[in-house]
Amino acid sequence: MPRALVTGCAGFIGSQVAEALLAAGHEVVGIDCFTDNYPREHKQANLVPARQHDRFTFVNTDLVTTDAEALLDGCDAVFHLAAEPGVRSSWGQKFDRYLRNNIRATQRLLEASAQTPERRIVYASSSSVYGESEALPTPEDATPQPLSPYGVTKLAAEQLCRLYHAEQGVNAVALRFFSVYGPRQRPDMAFRRFCEAAAAGAPIEIYGDGRQTRDFTFVGDVVAAVLAAGTADGVGGEVYNIGGGSRVSLAATLELLAAIAGRPLDVRHEERESGDVQDTGAAIDRAREDLGFEPATELREGLQAEFEWVVEHSRARSGAIASTG
Ligand code: NAD
Ligand code: UGA
Repeated sequence: MPRALVTGCAGFIGSQVAEALLAAGHEVVGIDCFTDNYPREHKQANLVPARQHDRFTFVNTDLVTTDAEALLDGCDAVFHLAAEPGVRSSWGQKFDRYLRNNIRATQRLLEASAQTPERRIVYASSSSVYGESEALPTPEDATPQPLSPYGVTKLAAEQLCRLYHAEQGVNAVALRFFSVYGPRQRPDMAFRRFCEAAAAGAPIEIYGDGRQTRDFTFVGDVVAAVLAAGTADGVGGEVYNIGGGSRVSLAATLELLAAIAGRPLDVRHEERESGDVQDTGAAIDRAREDLGFEPATELREGLQAEFEWVVEHSRARSGAIASTG
């Protein structure tokens, strides 16, 4: 896989996939159009390490309007991380963004890869395709019944991958990530918000009673799975769960965070948010077998890494503000 395209390369996960590919010696073309789901300066900061490599080329373009064939020309693999993410914000007017950046963008990439079985496409799918779990841990062949508009768009794009594989010779594989966390996590996500609040001594808002559970997955483990899916044999047309290996309640994660932060947390309960499922848990036997996937990062260790990153990051940002202000 000498030359790879990473879409969404300025994002939380995409930036770390791009860096891992560069570290493994590949040439990487990264594309992103800095959508405004969170501030552009965060995404620019995510890109800094990749930009230091001379094997990295950044293209600031929108997947929906760009000439996808020209972009893909000469690429042996595509890691498709670009999307409009976020479960709770996918209702109402915002749905148009989800349709555009999740379904249309994916269709453009797949169309431009028709009859090119030599090019692997790895699609970032989501645990949100399942909705409320029919079994825990949930196997890949459980009936998908998303509970949020976001989940519907991620499932639609996943189905496009399956369809273009079956009918158009596209070598696409889908990975269903389960609540990914770690350094650079998006500012709308739970652990990022909790770590920021814990560091600042500010209140933490829990949606619902805190008894919901998630199979939190450390970003480094997700990156390893993504790279493995880029080269694994015989996985075209398949779907894999990528989970952290254990299911934890939100309340239990706050106990861990209080110990990491070394202070009691000021926890407040808000209404449950529409679209939020009660539990997620990944059956990962299939990913173990076919991709050699094994989650290696314990929640405590990963949460500590995120907390330290949040502290460092806010220090760097306030330093930058002080020096410009
Ligand atoms: P992110 O928002 O940090 O990254 C996505 C990037 O895609 C952004 O930088 C955005 O600017 C870019 N983008 C969006 N639409 C684009 C377009 N039309 N053209 C070019 N660039 C575009 O999100 P993330 O958390 O890193 O998520 C990455 C992928 O993983 C997404 O597909 C998401 O659905 C999926 N996923 C994430 C999680 C998670 O817990 N973070 C879990 C399951 C699945
Ligand atoms: C995450 C990502 O945001 C989605 O992009 C992704 O597709 C999804 O994982 C997935 O696994 O497929 P979510 O599980 O909602 O979605 O991730 P978190 O933001 O980490 O939320 C975890 C739980 O914490 C949810 O129940 C949420 O309601 C809760 N939460 C979040 C709070 O209680 N307070 C907050 O401030 C934020």
